[in-house]
Amino acid sequence: MNEKTAPTRKPVRVITVTSGKGGVGKSNLTLGLALALAKMGKKVLIWDADLGLANIDVLLGLKTTATIHDLLNGTKTLPEIIADGPAGIRIMPAASGILELGELSEGQKQRLLSEFDDWNDDLDFLLIDTAAGIGGNVIYFNLAAQERIVVLTNEPTSITDAYALIKVLSTRYQQNSFHILPNQVTGPKEAKNVFGLLSSVADKHLNQVSLSLLGYVPKDESVTSAVRAQKPFLITAPDCEASLQVVNVARCLAANAPDQLAGGGLVFFLNRLASFGGTVD
Ligand SMILES: Nc1ncnc2c1ncn2[C@@H]1O[C@H](COP(=O)(O)OP(=O)(O)OP(=O)(O)O)[C@@H](O)[C@H]1O
Ligand SMILES: [Mg+2]
Repeated sequence: MNEKTAPTRKPVRVITVTSGKGGVGKSNLTLGLALALAKMGKKVLIWDADLGLANIDVLLGLKTTATIHDLLNGTKTLPEIIADGPAGIRIMPAASGILELGELSEGQKQRLLSEFDDWNDDLDFLLIDTAAGIGGNVIYFNLAAQERIVVLTNEPTSITDAYALIKVLSTRYQQNSFHILPNQVTGPKEAKNVFGLLSSVADKHLNQVSLSLLGYVPKDESVTSAVRAQKPFLITAPDCEASLQVVNVARCLAANAPDQLAGGGLVFFLNRLASFGGTVD
C-alpha cells in the first residue's frame, strides 16, 4: 500500500442495489436514490450492471453508445463512456455484451483500476444496479461492494428469491450484512411484515446474518407514469409518496456510513472486482 496516498483517499461508498427476483424495482430505486443523494450535495455515479428491459438509460430516455467494453478494449476512456444524467448524477451505461468479470486480462484489470483512480476524489457514492438472481456477476458485484441493498416486494416468490440470494452470499461467500428495502408495499406496516418474514427465515437457517430494514417505498402510480415518460419519478413527482420515501432512505444511508476500513472505498472495490476469476454457479 502506498502509505503516502492511501489514508487520504476520499472514502467512496460502493453500494449494490440487488434482488433475487427480477422486476421488483431495482433500477427505479437506484435512480431515485442517486437523485435524492445528488440533491443532498453528494456526487453519485450509477454503474448499470444489468442490460435489462428498462435499464437506467431507458428510464432516463438517454441514448448511450459507448460501454465498459470500449474502456476494456482500450478504445475509450472512462469520461468518454460516462453519460451525464439529471442533477449532476453520472451513469456508466449497461454493456451490450456479457461482461465476464472472471475473464478480464491483466491489462484490462489494470486499465479499469487506473481509469477509475482519477475519479476517486470526485465521487461520494457508486451505486450499482445489478441483474436479478444469483448469476456470476451478481455475486461478484455483491461481494466486491461494501454494502448491499436487497430490494423485494410482498410476494412469496420475491421474498423466497431474496432469501436465496442472501443465503448464497452468506453461506458460500461469508457475506453477512444486508440492507433490506421493501418496494411496492402499502406502507410501513407491510414493509415491516415483509422484513419480518425474511428475517425469521434467515435467523432460523443462516448463521450470523445481519439484516437491517432501510425503509420502504410504496406502490405509487407516479412511478409507473414516470417509467412510461422515461423520466425519473423523483423529478416528475418529487412530492409523491414514493419520492418522499426514497428521500428518507437516502438520508438514512447518508447518515449511516460504515467503517471505511472494513472493506470500503472505490479502489478496494475495483481491486476486489478484478480479483475474481472462474465462474460462479
Ligand atoms: N414503487 C413502485 N410503485 C409502482 N410501480 C413500481 C414501483 N417500483 C417499480 N415499479 C414498477 O415495476 C417495474 C419494474 O421496475 P424496475 O425496472 O425498476 O425493476 P428491476 O428490479 O430493475 O427489474 P429487472 O430485474 O428487470 O432489472 C417498473 O417499470 C414499474 O412499472
Ligand atoms: Mg433493472
